[in-house]
Amino acid sequence: MSDFFNIGWSYFIAVISIAGVIFCLWLLLSQRKNKVALNPDGSVSDTGHEWDGLRELNNPLPSWWMWMFLLSIIFGVGYWILYPGIGSYAGSLGYTSAKEHNESVLKANTELKPFYEKYMALDVPNLAKDPQAKQIGQRLYLNYCAQCHGSDAGGGKGFPTLSDKDWLYGGEPDHIKTTLINGRQGNMPAFKTILSSTDINHVANYVRSLSGLPSNPIKRSLGEVVFKNNCIGCHGAEGKGNILVGAPNLTDKIWLYGGSEATITETLLNGRNGKMPAHQEILTPEKIHLLTAFVWGLSQ
Ligand code: HEC
Ligand code: HEC
Repeated sequence: MSDFFNIGWSYFIAVISIAGVIFCLWLLLSQRKNKVALNPDGSVSDTGHEWDGLRELNNPLPSWWMWMFLLSIIFGVGYWILYPGIGSYAGSLGYTSAKEHNESVLKANTELKPFYEKYMALDVPNLAKDPQAKQIGQRLYLNYCAQCHGSDAGGGKGFPTLSDKDWLYGGEPDHIKTTLINGRQGNMPAFKTILSSTDINHVANYVRSLSGLPSNPIKRSLGEVVFKNNCIGCHGAEGKGNILVGAPNLTDKIWLYGGSEATITETLLNGRNGKMPAHQEILTPEKIHLLTAFVWGLSQ
């Protein structure tokens, strides 16, 4: 309960809560039996209201009701001591809803561990053949991955297709697992301050020629020189990419961002920084293993 913007709000809440209970207590005590005005002869007075012969008496509060009221106040105060309730005071039990959630996740994971163990014992190629494992993998995929890579794993602009054999970071089971565990951060530098716009235009034509797309022959050959001087460190001398830095293969017809001259120019001017989030905090090793097999299986 330390989510207040500043300590002032915490005091504000605390004062209102405590004052509210004190007020209830005062109200209760001020209405006790001995405070109720009786008639001189000791009988209970009435309020002066009468409907069809029914007289409203000014009886003291019944004691069962008084006690219930009192007990609920005691319960409330006890709750305050144990749980967060008064401003930012954390409560003596140290309860937080986040902690409770984490504990139940941990409990569920521990209970499911034996169930997943048989899958952990299989290597990825064999796991990919197991129909039940595939089904679990698919559900996990739809839950955790589909929003970026598409429900059919077909990807989208900036989000790689996972069902083909073209890999930024490698398609072996170990590569895929490392991608899932640690995430990946693509780093294609921006060249707008490094290369002139003419050079960028030339090299864009050369990049298009690498995958057989139409390009201007003069610009293409000038671009080849620019490419050799600036790009082969990551994309390789033949433009086939490098899985160590996630540089895409530029010679296939598969594009992460797009192969039109305009899109390539945009990539070169501003760079690209695709980010695959790390999942080791989100998913258990068992689930990552199943997902690895599922993703690997898609391209087999
Ligand atoms: C927030 C969006 C997002 C989510 C969620 C996400 N990914 Fe990714 N993923 C990316 C992006 C973006 C890349 C490309 C990174 C780059 O450009 O370097 C990527 C790359 C990958 C790669 C590497 C592909 C290659 O060609 O080497 C794999 C494998 C992968 N993701 C699998 C998964 C799986 C499995 C999940 C679910 C557990 C998942 N991703 C969830 C955005 C996401
Ligand atoms: C430091 C390494 C590095 C250098 C140098 C580099 N690139 Fe890249 N390039 C990458 C990475 C990594 C990506 C993928 C970015 C991502 O995943 O978001 C990429 C992406 C691209 C793409 C997008 C491909 C697609 O499928 O949409 C093109 C085009 C490209 N680079 C061309 C070039 C050219 C031309 C040069 C030289 C002028 C160059 N790159 C220099 C690392 C590099």
